[in-house]
Amino acid sequence: MPAVGIDDLAIYVPKLYIDYKDFAEARGIDPQKLEYGIGIKKMALADANQDSACMAANACLKLMQRNRLHPQDIGRMYVATESALDESKAMNSFVVGMLEQIYGEGSFEHAGGIECKFACVSGSYALYDNANWIRAEENSGKAAIVIVSDIAKYDIGSSGEYTQGAGAVAMLITKNPRLMAFDQKVASTIIKNEYDFYRPFGKETPLVNGTYSNLLYLIQVRKAFDSYKERAIKSGLIKLQDGESITDHIDFFSVHLPYRKMGEKALAYLLRHEWRHLPRWKNVIKEIGMAEPHPKDQRGTIESILADTEFMKADEKFRRAFMQTSYFNEVFEKKMASSLEASAIIGNLYTASMYMGLRSLLEFEYKKGTDLEDKRVGFGSYGSGSSAMVFSGIIQPDYKEIVKRMDLEQDIGERVKLPIEVYERLHRNEKTCSEFLARPHKEFVLVKVGGLTADKAGFREYVYVK
Ligand code: HMG
Repeated sequence: MPAVGIDDLAIYVPKLYIDYKDFAEARGIDPQKLEYGIGIKKMALADANQDSACMAANACLKLMQRNRLHPQDIGRMYVATESALDESKAMNSFVVGMLEQIYGEGSFEHAGGIECKFACVSGSYALYDNANWIRAEENSGKAAIVIVSDIAKYDIGSSGEYTQGAGAVAMLITKNPRLMAFDQKVASTIIKNEYDFYRPFGKETPLVNGTYSNLLYLIQVRKAFDSYKERAIKSGLIKLQDGESITDHIDFFSVHLPYRKMGEKALAYLLRHEWRHLPRWKNVIKEIGMAEPHPKDQRGTIESILADTEFMKADEKFRRAFMQTSYFNEVFEKKMASSLEASAIIGNLYTASMYMGLRSLLEFEYKKGTDLEDKRVGFGSYGSGSSAMVFSGIIQPDYKEIVKRMDLEQDIGERVKLPIEVYERLHRNEKTCSEFLARPHKEFVLVKVGGLTADKAGFREYVYVK
């Protein structure tokens, strides 16, 4: 089977942001809680003339221009988002409309694609399906583009408010990719009907059970990881020696990042799960100086765990102590820390979070001088509602061609810090498209929503600003 994966990826991040210190002061929160407890310094915000479709188009245009792609080179364009603009019209149709302003009307007509939804995990399903479309040689030699784009918006004053963000990542999926080839036949999923985080029709912000969502994320990703492990060992992709953990065979971890600290917690949860039966665990316990607590109810369901408050308290203490150990820190610094840099200065991007994390990992490891060739990246993708997907990929010999030009600061451009009152007005949708706050440059913007007559109600007009 041919190698298929991500050939290149481009990002778009809106220029507006709020600073964590201003936010903490306005909400009466200790800024240290945001900086260390959550791991956020700057949250990116969509401007009054931006939505998830124009961010998606901006990321896609960058990807196409950089790779000198013509629409004829693209056979599929999928947009994964949970910031949909229409109950019926797919976001990729808006994106195609914008791109055709550059490439000519009808230039994408030959292509296909859909909008995908499953909270933050749908981009991973879109990648998987498009990679298989290419593997099956249904693609007539054409590439696929998968775009993940979202605006994470929570109620003012809620605990979710400090996990907001906005942005898009566009990924070019090809045969023999320069950047990363997906490991085949190991991608594993899990799905369950849950209400950890959801957004009923007509509601702009989600209903969230924060504590429940945190634990559910950990459990679901771990379950998908168990299935990944089984498949990776069975297929011979990974061969374990005595005393080894499968995590020893994964060089980097890139996981869903609703906020930076969640990445660290996910790694801690996974390592505990994978190490507790290995000889090394004795040394870990020795360094921690306390035994690992176990829930009273051995079923280990999320409800029984949450109900066991004594266990939850002891487990929090143990988890924090584990995250201080040299064992955890060695893995964290080597295999995850670089993937979290972008999250701290952008915030939650829902579908795009994990892929912004991948981009961050590549850029900052490259800048550290790490040789990335042939290294395996393990992905832990999570979407509330809920589903998780675990898969992996190998960084390809030509990766430097792509990674050497990555520069997050330059890609975001000059940022505009908003006073909290202005952010709140933007949040309450009090500004019209023409009242934007950052000057657009070489990008698509929204200029009008709705027409004068009822049949034009959902029309959205975008222009490219040179
Ligand atoms: P919270 O009420 O801020 O939580 O809600 P907290 O009070 O437990 O504080 C968080 C951390 O800050 C804790 O550290 C505190 O100890 C620490 P931890 O125990 O985790 O290590 N802290 C401090 N640290 C330093 N100095 C201080 C201080 N005070 C406290 N002074 C929560 C946090 C994430 C729950 C909330 O922001 C929320 O509800 N967010 C939205 C939901 C969410 O992001 N859930 C994550 C998992 S679900 C998911 O990822 C899917 C999602 O992306 C949606 C989708 O799939 O589409 C959300």
